Amino acid sequence: MSLDEIAREISNCRKCQLWSTKTRYVPGEGSDKAEVVFVGEAPGREEDRQGRPFVGNAGKLLTEMIEKVLGLSRKDVFIANVLKCRPPNNRDPLPEEIDACSPYLIRQLEMIQPRIIVCLGRFSANFIFELLNIPFSGISKVRGKVFDAEMNGRKVKVIATYHPAAILYKPQLREIFEGDFRTIASLLKDRKTNPTLLDFVD
Ligand code: URA
Repeated sequence: MSLDEIAREISNCRKCQLWSTKTRYVPGEGSDKAEVVFVGEAPGREEDRQGRPFVGNAGKLLTEMIEKVLGLSRKDVFIANVLKCRPPNNRDPLPEEIDACSPYLIRQLEMIQPRIIVCLGRFSANFIFELLNIPFSGISKVRGKVFDAEMNGRKVKVIATYHPAAILYKPQLREIFEGDFRTIASLLKDRKTNPTLLDFVD
C-alpha cells in the first residue's frame, strides 16, 4: 500500500456525507519519506477548489514558514488534514465525519513514519494528542512544547502550534508562531548535526 493508493481510495470515498458537498477530495501531498508531517483540520475553499492542502492564504503562510524557517520545500514534507473533504462553509467537523475519515490520516502517518508530527491548530492537536495518548489541555497551553510519543512502536515527536489562519486574524501571534517553527527547525537540526541522537532509530 502506497500513499498514492490511499489517495486513490480517498477519491472514491463515501464514508460520510461530505463527499456530496465537496468539489474535490484533498488527500494530502508531499514526500513519502518526509521527516515532518503537518496536520491541519480540513480543506478550506481554495483547497476544495484545487484538491490540494493549504493552498489558500493560510497555506501561503505555512509554505513561507516551511521554506524560510525550516529551510525545506513543500515537497520535502507531507501536508494533510484530519478531514479529506471540505465541510460546507468551513463549519467544524462533526464527530461522525472524524470517525469516518481519520483512518486515512492514520494510515498515511503509519506509512510515512515521520520523526515529527506538527499539529496546526486546536482541532488537529486535539485529534493527534488523543490518538497518541498525550494529555491535551488546550492549544495555548500545549503549543510550542515538544512531546515524545509512540506510534506503532516507533518514537515520534509531536508539537502543536496555532493554525496559520489564526495568525492571519491575529497578527500579534505571528512571533509565537514563528518561534514554534524555530523549535521544529532545531528538532530537525539535532538529527543532522548530532549522529549520537539516535533515539529516533528503532
Ligand atoms: N485549513 C486547514 O486546516 N487545512 C487546509 O488544508 C487549509 C486550511
